[in-house]
Amino acid sequence: MSSNNPIGIFDSGVGGLSVLREVRALMPNENIIYFGDQGHVPYGPRSMRQIQNFSEGITRFLLGHGAKIIVVACNTASAAALKHLRATFSDVQFVGMEPAVKPAAEKTQTGKVGVLATPATFQGELYASVVERFANGVELFQNTCPGLVNQIEKGELNAPQTRAILEDALLPMLEKNIDTVVLGCTHYPFVIPLIERIVGEKVRVIDPAPAVAKQVKRLLEAGGMVNQNREKGTVRFITSGEVDSVKRVLSTLLGIDAEVEAVTWMDDRGIR
Ligand code: DGL
Repeated sequence: MSSNNPIGIFDSGVGGLSVLREVRALMPNENIIYFGDQGHVPYGPRSMRQIQNFSEGITRFLLGHGAKIIVVACNTASAAALKHLRATFSDVQFVGMEPAVKPAAEKTQTGKVGVLATPATFQGELYASVVERFANGVELFQNTCPGLVNQIEKGELNAPQTRAILEDALLPMLEKNIDTVVLGCTHYPFVIPLIERIVGEKVRVIDPAPAVAKQVKRLLEAGGMVNQNREKGTVRFITSGEVDSVKRVLSTLLGIDAEVEAVTWMDDRGIR
């Protein structure tokens, strides 16, 4: 495995791009291969078994394309599949997502924190463990924001329906006097401007992506796997969905006009 090999990043869709942009900003000379599983998004309502199968198939695909580390840039896949992936690929380094309850609990003044994530994330033992270890008497208000992932997949960051989903989640939390909102889904950083317009400037919004990028850097440095090239790294975008719609959303979310490669699932675990 060469240090010039790419960092593999995957998500159920475009959410993981909120992690990719932080990795890119922190380590611009690293090559990246990004997999968005638009053929199966959203993962949130799916079974653990299905998410584990999808995550295993995507990991095999990324390793097959030389990934030197795998970033599970998806809270839902991290909750449902990270333990399974580490057991299945014991010689591979994984970085996963974890709802940022710890920093929220440390920073809140009112002791009231809102958490936005998918059903599968909230149901996973990872979230229960994070709450048990770090909530420390802070009152958490959870909401799954039904339909928000699909809105962001369509690039509708300011549509009335997107605003309505967020108001339904956040207004009751504001009445409970929250002063912090944890983004427990990697799609949600793309609607931070809208969230901030709803909650106002007194409420802190926590996006874990920068911390995840720093963890990737730490692991690459510790393993002597940092790309030593000076020039800007390349990014490959792979989707199991529609190339044209992913190209459109890449332009909306990242302001880039990128080539997108399409792949096809043969079954729940194999990608052609
Ligand atoms: N971006 C994902 C997450 O962080 C996934 C959402 C979904 O596909 O439901 O959970």
